[in-house]
Amino acid sequence: MAKLLLRHVYKIYKGTEKAKKNAKGEAKKRSGDFVAVKDFNMEINDGEFIVFVGPSGCGKSTTLRMIAGLEEISGGELYIDDQLVNDVDAKDRDIAMVFQSYALYPHLTAYDNIAFGLKMRKIPAPKLDKEGNQIIAIDEKKISEIKKKLNRLSKDIVSKAEDAENDGSDFAKEEKALLEKRIEDAKAELEYYQNTPVPQYKYVHMSKEEIDEKVQWAAGVLGIEELLDSKPAEMSGGQRQRIALGRAMVRGPKVFLLDEPLSNLDAKLRTAMRAEIVKLHNQLKTTFIYVTHDQIEAMTMGTRIVVMKLGVIQQIDTPTNLFDYPENKFVAGFIGTPQMNFFEVDIKREGDKLGVVFEDGQTVDLELSALRTIEDKYLDGNAHKVYLGIRGENVKLDEAGVKATLTIKEVLGNTTQLFLKLDGQESDFIVSVPERNAILPGDRVGIRLDERFIHLFDKETELSIMSREYGNDKKHGNK
Ligand SMILES: Nc1ncnc2c1ncn2[C@@H]1O[C@H](COP(=O)(O)OP(=O)(O)OP(=O)(O)O)[C@@H](O)[C@H]1O
Ligand SMILES: [Mg+2]
Repeated sequence: MAKLLLRHVYKIYKGTEKAKKNAKGEAKKRSGDFVAVKDFNMEINDGEFIVFVGPSGCGKSTTLRMIAGLEEISGGELYIDDQLVNDVDAKDRDIAMVFQSYALYPHLTAYDNIAFGLKMRKIPAPKLDKEGNQIIAIDEKKISEIKKKLNRLSKDIVSKAEDAENDGSDFAKEEKALLEKRIEDAKAELEYYQNTPVPQYKYVHMSKEEIDEKVQWAAGVLGIEELLDSKPAEMSGGQRQRIALGRAMVRGPKVFLLDEPLSNLDAKLRTAMRAEIVKLHNQLKTTFIYVTHDQIEAMTMGTRIVVMKLGVIQQIDTPTNLFDYPENKFVAGFIGTPQMNFFEVDIKREGDKLGVVFEDGQTVDLELSALRTIEDKYLDGNAHKVYLGIRGENVKLDEAGVKATLTIKEVLGNTTQLFLKLDGQESDFIVSVPERNAILPGDRVGIRLDERFIHLFDKETELSIMSREYGNDKKHGNK
């Protein structure tokens, strides 16, 4: 069990060829450095199920690997249970990671695969003298570890100082100051261990019985007792994935990190395993961080979801809040299937109505009181260019409404999806209606938008211009 804190965490890959090609803005200034994760800030509470979601290459795995200690943190701080762990080795972070490729040993049975890490691992046991008392002495090993760390930090500070010199940004200066503090801390730690005898430990292997107890426990929880003698080749994908989970569980980690663990499974098995992992989390009550690019997986599993794009957090929220109150157009389009529809419109306030002009010139007046509250500056009586977003299920057929042409109809059984187009509009928008109907491609159809579910985003910034509450009418009265 653990809480985590990420403060201004960056991952910058130094001057790679790819980076030089793709570099833009800030990255370009750093002459071809590639910023894979940018200013990641988040507090994760004990026992949460956090999902990182976003398109390929947005930095999900990189963030996870930094938390695991498999990837160095280029800037910022990572705390696990209030301890700064930037300099703590992966093996000492008490974190278990499950990968997409299960990485099982093919020649070992399920039992031995699960037990493997435990057999390798040594656990501390008090070092005793002849009388049976724990030996207390200067810890030379610890001292040499701290010296190594100091060496590494001293090298880092040279390059950070250069960065600070070169670009003079506040970030670079902050980074340098942070590194200086870490060096001070390490020096203080070194002095402590050089002068203070501490209890000594030796490292011993776990007993066969201890290992067996843990393996049997994990197998019981995962329902794989019968598989323990099988080898990976004889198992299904789902079974292999359970073995990989078991291997992580027996370590009793403070945090579970899972990087797209289900993406090698077929759709049906993926749905089943999704529920299993949620159950496992409920049972273990440990902090889970789960990476996926599948928004449905994110919505169904996470207590909170982090939506990322190009290394930058877009929104951190509960699944329903992400769906109901996306803070920008990217999140709005990413969460929910089918995708939210977007229209480029002009909005203009006229009394207690909001006049909307669509791309093809058709207009509709919306009741301001039925819409979520809009930022004042967009209600000043002038026309403003915005994106209007609405999900297919919140559009109704209405002969008196805005007219569009049907391009395709998909009858899904429980619903019917109509692909419609306004004149001159580039792509279709989707309306999902519960009833079947006789409309045919080419027909003109009238639609009405349910005002309660309308989203508005600034055309330039693509940020939402609405709050989570309703009450434009209260704000402006009936003037
Ligand atoms: N060692 C590296 N050197 C340079 N760039 C890298 C390195 N590792 C990753 N990157 C880049 O950093 C970005 C983020 O990669 P990351 O693996 O975190 O993406 P992701 O969100 O996990 O994507 P996916 O869904 O495809 O797994 C990508 O553009 C990737 O090419
Ligand atoms: Mg990845």
